[in-house]
Order: sequence, then structure tokens, then C-alpha cells
Amino acid sequence: MAEALRVEDLHVRFGTPAGPVKALNGVNFVLEEGEIYCLVGESGAGKSTLALAIMGLLPVSATVPSGRVIFDGMDLLRISQEKLRTIRGNKVSMIFQDAQSALNPVQLVGPQLEEVILAHTNVGSRVANGMALDMLREMGLPDPKRIMGQYPFSLSGGMCQRVMLAIALVLRPRVLIADEPTSGLDVTLQAEILERLKALCREQGSSILLITHDMGIVASMAQKVGVIYAGTVVETSKVIPLFKEPQHPYTWSLLKTLPRLDDVDRRLEPLRGVPPDMIDLPEECPFLPRCHKALSRCRVERRPPLEEVASEHMVACYNPMLPGT
Ligand SMILES: Nc1ncnc2c1ncn2[C@@H]1O[C@H](COP(=O)(O)OP(=O)(O)OP(=O)(O)O)[C@@H](O)[C@H]1O
Ligand SMILES: [Mg+2]
Repeated sequence: MAEALRVEDLHVRFGTPAGPVKALNGVNFVLEEGEIYCLVGESGAGKSTLALAIMGLLPVSATVPSGRVIFDGMDLLRISQEKLRTIRGNKVSMIFQDAQSALNPVQLVGPQLEEVILAHTNVGSRVANGMALDMLREMGLPDPKRIMGQYPFSLSGGMCQRVMLAIALVLRPRVLIADEPTSGLDVTLQAEILERLKALCREQGSSILLITHDMGIVASMAQKVGVIYAGTVVETSKVIPLFKEPQHPYTWSLLKTLPRLDDVDRRLEPLRGVPPDMIDLPEECPFLPRCHKALSRCRVERRPPLEEVASEHMVACYNPMLPGT
């Protein structure tokens, strides 16, 4: 398979009065064409930061000391803002974690959607209007004409989510970054939106980086999974080996707390211990204080690199779980 997006050794810092927050500390992963890659990890692990960094939408307080984001032979971190704008929303688009606040509150829904079409294509406003209506209808919104004439605040959370999905998908992007696209939605709506995302991959060969807390969603959507902890990917593999034989103690702990996948409540439970302080990150493995498999080596050496332990299965750990444990 060809690569759609490659992230290499990505570091991101946020400047804060208490010191720099080391949000991403060398993230590596590859998204293949037509694939759904799920990124999981607890709150604060750096998932949204990664999504924003790929899109070139980090806040001004952020710096990127090193790393590359390769799309279509270009490093998105090093191309001009102008070039990036031609790619963003067109070839690479994003659904934000909080739909309601990601939409422009003072602009009607219709113009927000039409603006994306007009900015990236040569069609006129009448065609753009038709495309916008079709897309809203395709996203399951009844009476799209009425919705086009409304402000985001007058729509429900689920409707905003669909509008954002319409904006993200209207130009049939090659890569879609979906940050918790269904959190806060009821189960039926969630299933429907996920089905639409799957169809996008199937019908257009698009790739999706899907960020979620929900292992049930991972099981039903992903071909590949990446587990992120304290701003690094600590394990990545195809979905079945990851569920059957997790090798990083963190992944293992995450999955151990999970009820059966066919249970209704599949949210992850919090692990024992607390995530590390992202301002004062240790040199050694950041999972060490919570790890039940730690060796003396883990206390003295720098954080372990991500290494292949089986075909397409990479783990960053000096003492991984043995298969079958
Ligand atoms: N603008 C910011 N300024 C300072 N620190 C930030 C900023 N945005 C994020 N952070 C910090 O960076 C780290 C990663 O945050 P991020 O939002 O990427 O986590 P996340 O994995 O998306 O969490 P969640 O699951 O809660 O959405 C956290 O420690 C967070 O507090
Ligand atoms: Mg987030």
C-alpha cells in the first residue's frame, strides 16, 4: 500500500508561565492509503496536539522543535502558509473534538460550507450552493436548506457534528483527521457517523486518522492502531494483534480494564497512578512509575525507542509483555 501521510519524530512544546509543556516527544507513525488508523491514549497524551500539528493549526504558544509531516512528497511543516491553505480543507481535512466551537459562531452554516468549496475549486456560487445542500443531505440532515440559513448555536450538538463532517468531507479529502468525532453523541448517531467515515474510505480510498478513547470504536473501525502515552507512540500494530497480544505494559493495562468488546459500556477505565507531568518529563520511560513490568534497566536508561517486535508490530519498551500473557 502507498503512504498517505507520514509523521516522523514530531516534537511539540507549548509555552506556559510554568515552563514549556512537552506535549509531543518524538511521534512516529504512517497512515496508508485507504486505511483507518486509530490513535488511542488517555486524556492529555497529546492526541489533539498531534492532529493540530499535522494541520498546521497549533496555537501561537506552540513551537515545533523538530519533526516532519510528509504528505504528497511535501513536508507540511515547512511549506508556505499559502501552499498549506491550498491543501488544508481540500486534500487534508479535519473534524475537531468540539464541533460547536470549531464552527464560526457568527456565520450562517450555508456560507461556511460554500466558502470551503469556493476557496478550493473553480465552481461558481450556484454550483457551490448545490454541492453544500447535497453534502448536508448526504450527512443525514433533514431539510438542508433550512439548516444552511441557521447559525451554529441554534443547532443541536449532533447537527453541528454533521455540519462539520459535511465541511470536512465536501471536497473528498485524501486524508481526514477525525478527533473524537462522535464523543458526546448518542449511540445511534455515533454508529451512523462512523458508517459514513468507513464509506469514505471504501468509496474514495481516503485515509482516516481517527482519534478516540473508545476501544469499541477501535475494534469496529481500525485497520491499525497507535497507542500514545505522554506524547509518544508506545505501540502500533494491526488491530487484531494489538487486542490479542498487546506488548507494551500500558496497552496491556488499557485493555485489561476493558469489559468485553460487545458490552454496552466500553469506555476505558482510568489506570492506577497518574500521567506524568508534561512540563517536567523524565528522561527515562514516562510510563515507569505506573509500570508493573519495570526492570532496573528502565530506571537508568533513556526512554526506549519504538522497535519492531513482529511484522508491522512496533513497541517502545525494554520489557514487553510476552505474547500469550
Ligand atoms: N494551548 C495549550 N497550552 C498549553 N498546554 C497545552 C495546550 N494544549 C494542550 N496542552 C497540553 O498538552 C498536552 C496534550 O494535550 P492534548 O489536548 O493534545 O491531549 P489529548 O490527548 O487530546 O487529550 P483529550 O483526550 O483530553 O482530548 C496536555 O498536557 C495539555 O495540558
Ligand atoms: Mg484531545
